[in-house]
Amino acid sequence: MRATDFIDLEAGTLSREIFSSEEIYRREVERVFAPAWSFVGHTSQLAKNGDFFLSRCGIEPVIVSRDQAGAINVLLNSCRHRGMPACRYDSGNATDFICSYHGWSYGLDGALVGVPKFRERYQGKLEREKWGLIRARVNVFHGSIWATFDDAALSFEDYLGPDMQFYLQALLQGPDGDDDGYEVIGGLVKWQVACNWKFGAENFAGDHYHGYSHISVERLSVGLSGKTSRHNFAAAKTPRQAMSVADPKRGHTIRASVFKDLAGYDVQAGAPDEVNDYYLKCHEERQKRLGDKARLLIHGGVIFPNTHFNSAGRTTIGLWLPLSAGKTEIWRWLFVPRNAPNIVKDTLREYYLRYAGPAGMVEQDDMENWTAAQHGTESLVARKYPFNYQLAMGLARPARADEWLGRDVSITEDVAEHNQRAFYAHWAERIADTP
Ligand code: FES
Ligand SMILES: [Fe+2]
Repeated sequence: MRATDFIDLEAGTLSREIFSSEEIYRREVERVFAPAWSFVGHTSQLAKNGDFFLSRCGIEPVIVSRDQAGAINVLLNSCRHRGMPACRYDSGNATDFICSYHGWSYGLDGALVGVPKFRERYQGKLEREKWGLIRARVNVFHGSIWATFDDAALSFEDYLGPDMQFYLQALLQGPDGDDDGYEVIGGLVKWQVACNWKFGAENFAGDHYHGYSHISVERLSVGLSGKTSRHNFAAAKTPRQAMSVADPKRGHTIRASVFKDLAGYDVQAGAPDEVNDYYLKCHEERQKRLGDKARLLIHGGVIFPNTHFNSAGRTTIGLWLPLSAGKTEIWRWLFVPRNAPNIVKDTLREYYLRYAGPAGMVEQDDMENWTAAQHGTESLVARKYPFNYQLAMGLARPARADEWLGRDVSITEDVAEHNQRAFYAHWAERIADTP
């Protein structure tokens, strides 16, 4: 397979088969997901030693735990005896994990600590130190936890690159600009959609362009206050420049805005006074901490390949988890400012629930689009004809040194399919045998 079988960057076209071919899906598992660093959760989910939760790393099920020494472990949730999940609870606090099939037990760091009949029938010869749960490489970045099982993968810092490190740090800053300003609340929202995982990924990566889909819900004022447009920044009195930012070497993408200045930045118009007061105070604090960079507003993006995030009012991080070429499971973590009063946390939770997820009014529009578009990649005639990715082709430019928007990134102002092209170009490089 050649990269040009899938994507023609000069023509701006992409094969529809990459959304429906099971053969390509199997390649993705090995060549795109296995060497990637994946978001698996947040340290606020592991407040005490012994805390754990289940997550996914690529397509692999994992246990994320904090052991008695306080260290964070990411363990393949597959018993070394016959492959049962070693842990079947979504989250909790434990001293060890006991497999429910034959009772092998593992410590919070994955070490095999107990085997029934160890003395009598294994004659004490089973080498327990060799049969612990498989451990992933782990990295914690401003409270977010990342993992990979690939020993040959790049370091986490090199995988992200300097620019995505800047944007991820900015994402994880509270509204007052405080590093590590967020915590996860509630359970994870998980649901399945009958479409290829890349429909969600490319939408989060760069689609500033589908407001048309959301016209009806826009009229309902589903914004944070429940009284304004769905986006909090719609109430800002300062002009802003929307932009698509991509790191083409690594496939990472960001949708963002930069405000012209910081005056009149009333982000939560229409919300209760306590909520408004909180955000106005945060805004002042943010300017003190970040200076000119406080003008940046992250809307969303994708850390290649499937870790996605949304910000601008509601801060979420999620995963597009492929189950097959035509089926995807979506996981979403909701973040709220750690030090905010409860009324702010409740307002954000309600905003998130009416906006996103399987019952969210805005995301329902998106899921309808993606599942219907999936059919357009499967039928015999339709799948012969490529998709069009020509929007704003040739208009990208490198970031200028005075912009602080990145070193390796290219940028397009206004709507564009710049980020989608960068995402798929990098994807095709990974999938193909030759360029
Ligand atoms: S499968 Fe876990 S103990 Fe047998
Ligand atoms: Fe959307």
